[in-house]
Amino acid sequence: MSAYEDVFRSSTDDPEAFWLKAAESIDWHVAPTRALDASNPPFYRWFPDGELNVCHNALDRHVDAGRGEQAALVYDSPVTDTRRTYTYAQLRDEVAAFAGVLVAQGVGHGDRVVVYMPMVPEALVAMLACARIGAVHSVVFGGFAPKELAVRIDDAAPKVIVSASCGIEGKRVIEYKPLLDTAIELATHKPSASIILQRPQAEAAMGSNDVDWVEAAAAATPADCVPVKATDPLYILYTSGTTGKPKGVVRDGGGYAVALNWSMPSVYDVGPGETIFTASDVGWVVGHSYIVYAPLLTGATTVLYEGKPVGTPDAGQFWRVVQEHGVKSLFTAPTAFRAIKKEDPQGEYAAKYDLSSLRYLFLAGERLDPETYRWASELLDIPVIDHWWQTETGWPIVANPAGIELLPVKPGSPTVPLPGWDVQVLDTNGKPVEAGTDGAIVVKLPMPPGALPTLWNDDERFVSSYMSAFDGYYLTGDGGRIDSDGYVYVMGRTDDVINVAGHRLSTGGMEEVLASHPDVAECAVIGVADQMKGQIPRGFVVLKAGVDRSEDELRAELVQLVRDQIGAVASLKDVAVVAALPKTRSGKILRKTMRGIADGADEPVPGTIENAAVLDDLRPVLRRS
Ligand code: COA
Ligand code: AMP
Repeated sequence: MSAYEDVFRSSTDDPEAFWLKAAESIDWHVAPTRALDASNPPFYRWFPDGELNVCHNALDRHVDAGRGEQAALVYDSPVTDTRRTYTYAQLRDEVAAFAGVLVAQGVGHGDRVVVYMPMVPEALVAMLACARIGAVHSVVFGGFAPKELAVRIDDAAPKVIVSASCGIEGKRVIEYKPLLDTAIELATHKPSASIILQRPQAEAAMGSNDVDWVEAAAAATPADCVPVKATDPLYILYTSGTTGKPKGVVRDGGGYAVALNWSMPSVYDVGPGETIFTASDVGWVVGHSYIVYAPLLTGATTVLYEGKPVGTPDAGQFWRVVQEHGVKSLFTAPTAFRAIKKEDPQGEYAAKYDLSSLRYLFLAGERLDPETYRWASELLDIPVIDHWWQTETGWPIVANPAGIELLPVKPGSPTVPLPGWDVQVLDTNGKPVEAGTDGAIVVKLPMPPGALPTLWNDDERFVSSYMSAFDGYYLTGDGGRIDSDGYVYVMGRTDDVINVAGHRLSTGGMEEVLASHPDVAECAVIGVADQMKGQIPRGFVVLKAGVDRSEDELRAELVQLVRDQIGAVASLKDVAVVAALPKTRSGKILRKTMRGIADGADEPVPGTIENAAVLDDLRPVLRRS
């Protein structure tokens, strides 16, 4: 039996023993005597009688163990030309001070704190400070517009918001404070204060409810770690569903800490004192898990990179970071490599740097296309590891478990299920399909620790979104197959979620915005293949009868509307005005057919005679790249 099979089998033979053993590498205030509470399916609870503090596990325990002088966090920001290293002792002290600021603002156990920050160390400090006092953070990605932020403020009902005066996108300085103020104005729930980190690139005008981060931290009494139940929420992370209303994925602290701590040596092969560079954003799950929590729980060094892989100043920044900080594992989305390849197809920048510390490249967030896999493998000559997971799962479902055993790579497959994940493929009737046959990828319940226990304040939506399609299974929303060697192939979403440059977005949400325009009668947004971003959204609108105005002007208005309502990150740049949209007899728009035609498939015309004419008209528009 291979080492991987051995570990996987022990997780399925006796999950209780497997996860209790994994839990031993976490410091508990009250050690759990049981791993899983399965008394109320599909609501599973991990380590129900355990108590811990995740911040203690991420910081204090390493300082207590004598490793206070080791680098915990390296902030590397080419856009501000800054490099700063925080030792574990320094980071603990910063976090304790900021936890004191939160306490002084009346934040306590179970209170929510929304964090709307660029990629600066203070974003991590705010998150860990919440964990320290048992508050629940909800980080909102900086590329979202005020309305999206307002929706999240209303759902999470935070006591305070933590933000910064600005973010930096390449050479552009984006003022966050006006966006935050607009969001608070739009929201029904009003937080009692906003704590603002002033950045020199654009200082914000402060209002009566605003607190200056630096002044408040200087005056604060440092706060200690508060033990909380393992099942208490550590954070809420909103993610796109099929409608405009995001889903508040809840993460419990105990299960998450155990799962992440297991994954670091087993999947990423990173141990104490070693360096991982996860080029993502703290606003996404990849950032939560592998910029912040997992590296620190393990006692490793994490690199926080503020910038893009290309542009400011050049396409060699990832390689510079690897050399300067001795990075062992680099984790990003395939789109970042496509961006680098476009600027530097011959890898001339990579050749300038000493990359000898780099042992692995991990890629996730979207399908890894074979050409990017080939290019990255040849450029770096190290294992390139595709792995598949989701905001909901918190850590990888399927990966090549490099730290246990590097299995042979099959391009196009993120390899095999990790312990705890019973991945299956079902047909539309809920029957398992033959090996190699496509279907809905599901996970047999219970899922392992770290996976979402529910949605924030919405058990019903948790059940209807994930647990109702197939009884006893979690619906991942991805389609694909498993081959006869047990390798999983993830082919894409089966719902209205798309992945644009590794960012998860809802086409349904964009449709809601387009439909709100007074001239639009109906609309469709579909994700189409894009060489750089993997997928991009394209919009199609049918105008109301009698609307007679410049199409160019209207298109620009619609693009701007989505940018204003959802954010620049939506990347909707192309809206076409069409005469009609193809529909089923019951009136549902044939988005899948439209997607197929846009991506080059010669779809037979389904449905009615009318659709044939509609699709004939649409075909040239859909095929235009
Ligand atoms: N704050 C404000 N605006 C933001 C933002 C933020 N935090 N993040 C992105 N945006 C804006 C961008 O400036 C851009 O605006 P524009 O349309 O005015 O140019 C828009 O949102 C789209 O951003 P993005 O999709 O990131 O495109 P890009 O062209 O700026 O960069 C990549 C493309 C591939 C270089 C970049 O997305 C990348 O490095 N991705 C890989 C890493 C990653 O983030 N993965 C996520 C999950 S693992
Ligand atoms: P997010 O919740 O933002 O992490 O996005 C999760 C979705 O991204 C998944 O449901 C997949 O559709 C897609 N995804 C993530 N990783 C991969 C991968 N390695 N291969 C294919 N799709 C992926």
